[in-house]
Amino acid sequence: MDFSFTSHSPQQTIKFGNHLGSQLKGGEIIAFVGPLGSGKTHLIKGIVEGLGAHDAPNEVTSPTFVLVNEYTGRLDIFHIDAYRLESLDQFEQIGFDDYCRPDSVVLIEWADKVKKALAGVNYFKITLTHLDAAPDSPQLVDFRTITITNYPDYILL
Ligand SMILES: Nc1ncnc2c1ncn2[C@@H]1O[C@H](COP(=O)(O)OP(=O)(O)OP(=O)(O)O)[C@@H](O)[C@H]1O
Ligand SMILES: [Mg+2]
Repeated sequence: MDFSFTSHSPQQTIKFGNHLGSQLKGGEIIAFVGPLGSGKTHLIKGIVEGLGAHDAPNEVTSPTFVLVNEYTGRLDIFHIDAYRLESLDQFEQIGFDDYCRPDSVVLIEWADKVKKALAGVNYFKITLTHLDAAPDSPQLVDFRTITITNYPDYILL
């Protein structure tokens, strides 16, 4: 199933993540794709909160230097940022396979960089884009289109 909508604020993106996260059952691998500042980390903050990791949202930042952040809620959550990964081997070395378990959720920012490593993996994708703001409509700068493709049918959006 596919779903697309426009978020009008960082708060709305987090709220949507919350709604999505609350419905995850475990075993999901979600690939986040979109340019710098498109809201991947904000959406993940919401998902992590929706999974009941209530202390974690303040700690949810792009795991740019550590590559993986872990949070615990209803399920174990592994938040990977592939932006600075140097190779697909490194993606394997950080333990990707071990993170994918029936009782965990794996969230991957910049997943397009590790697309090859995800080839045989059952994941779904969330694409974020800045809405092209007309020069005379500065209020649109906070608009983001969020598109979710091939998500499991138990998730109601
Ligand atoms: N509707 C929106 N949804 C999410 N973020 C928004 C929105 N409008 C404005 N923003 C701003 O855009 C930025 C998004 O930052 P965020 O770290 O979530 O992006 P990102 O895609 O993870 O970036 P990076 O690729 O650098 O990790 C924040 O500064 C946030 O305040
Ligand atoms: Mg980020």
